[in-house]
Amino acid sequence: MTTFQVRTFGCQMNKHDSERIAGMLAERGMTVAPEGDIADVIVFNTCCVRENADERLYGQVSSLTGVRRERGTIIAVGGCIGQRDGEQLLRTLPMIDVVFGTHNLARLPELIDAAADSPRPVVEVEDPSDADFTADLPSRREHPWHAWVPVTVGCNNFCTYCIVPYVRGRERSRSMEDVVAEVHALMADGVVEVTLLGQNVNSYGRDLYGAPRFAELLREVAATGVPRIRFTTSHPKDLSTATIAAMAELPAVCRHLHLPLQSGSDRILKAMNRRYTQADYLALVAQLYEAMPDLALSTDLIVGFPGETEEDFEETMLAATAAHYDAAFTFIYSPRAGTPAASMAEQIAKEVVQPRFDRLVSLVQSSALAKNVPLVGTVQRVLFEGASKRDGAVLMGRTAGNKVVHVRSHAALAGTFADVRIDDAQTWFLLGTLISGTGDA
Ligand code: SAH
Ligand code: SF4
Ligand code: F3S
Repeated sequence: MTTFQVRTFGCQMNKHDSERIAGMLAERGMTVAPEGDIADVIVFNTCCVRENADERLYGQVSSLTGVRRERGTIIAVGGCIGQRDGEQLLRTLPMIDVVFGTHNLARLPELIDAAADSPRPVVEVEDPSDADFTADLPSRREHPWHAWVPVTVGCNNFCTYCIVPYVRGRERSRSMEDVVAEVHALMADGVVEVTLLGQNVNSYGRDLYGAPRFAELLREVAATGVPRIRFTTSHPKDLSTATIAAMAELPAVCRHLHLPLQSGSDRILKAMNRRYTQADYLALVAQLYEAMPDLALSTDLIVGFPGETEEDFEETMLAATAAHYDAAFTFIYSPRAGTPAASMAEQIAKEVVQPRFDRLVSLVQSSALAKNVPLVGTVQRVLFEGASKRDGAVLMGRTAGNKVVHVRSHAALAGTFADVRIDDAQTWFLLGTLISGTGDA
């Protein structure tokens, strides 16, 4: 067992977990399998937030049956499906060698060793309520200059459509000292951008300190001197005035906020257990734009929640128009077994949902373009990520507002900052010209 491959589905938390899986396996002397080769160990880090995420796993694992038999490849499945299904997963996918959950990631190397020595699959899934915050694991970052930094894990909100609280357990925060110490260590290792992660970062600290302390955490992280700070996700009910003020004041905190609306209808928001109204949300948005007129705002929207009428959907269109989004992830509601919404009456037929979904997607596209056009002629600080996948003569980077910028250049600027004059705006990216490339923040 010398080579491995990690295949990741799902959210940033999973991406971060995959970096830790890769870190642990690399520490054991294993190397990433070269592109196109079949690895000795293939780890699936899975997601079950919507049905299509489930289906991808089944398809990919099934297609490995042959190589597993011929080459003895070990197949390990962890993440949210591992946590949800445990041993049950072997009924549909008997070729799996290791099943692990979201709370026992640290045990993966031992579980792989055990599976190599055993003719039977190895299953270990821990009860989320027994789990501690495991932050102290090696990590092999996808980009040397960027790091995910979990500040909370789990979720207490129980939105009625969502499986996350069941597979990630209750919300637990990491101490402020721990987070700050990690950011210092990451900077010493070349990191210039951190993304603070949690299902609802705005309630950070409630379990540890009795009250949320996210605004203070932002200030502490900014005090480390790290050039760029992002964070996700913010639940609108917990986004405080103190956090908005910290964002507005601290130059390192990117002026980009991901603030999931989910629905614009008060009736549906109530059925979703979101605990805000359209008016609450739009008041918050007004406060945000007032504090930061250049804020880039993004969101998540669900279409076709049980009972959603044409009128409810119109409210979503209205709210989405009023929020002037820069970007939005739009989802068709997907029933998840075990969540309250899955057993609600009035599940909506696909033929009804699809046209609503298409309308919402085009609204989001025009909103995104409308936010990009005024940027033409401005100078933006861009953190470059490397050559574009499609064209090696084009450099790709991101603005503080998380907008993709393309620049014609062969310069090796990956991981460095430069100023770019924006020449043209498209829906999902900007085109610009490099005007400096000092590599400083
Ligand atoms: N904690 C974050 C992320 C949750 S999952 C948050 O609260 O925003 C990311 C997104 O997936 C959610 O915001 C929601 O829009 C979507 N989602 C979750 N469950 C879903 C379901 N059953 N069907 C469709 N979309 C869903
Ligand atoms: Fe899911 Fe809601 Fe928690 Fe987000 S806040 S993870 S949508 S339950
Ligand atoms: Fe998916 Fe689990 Fe994240 S269900 S969205 S990978 S918390």
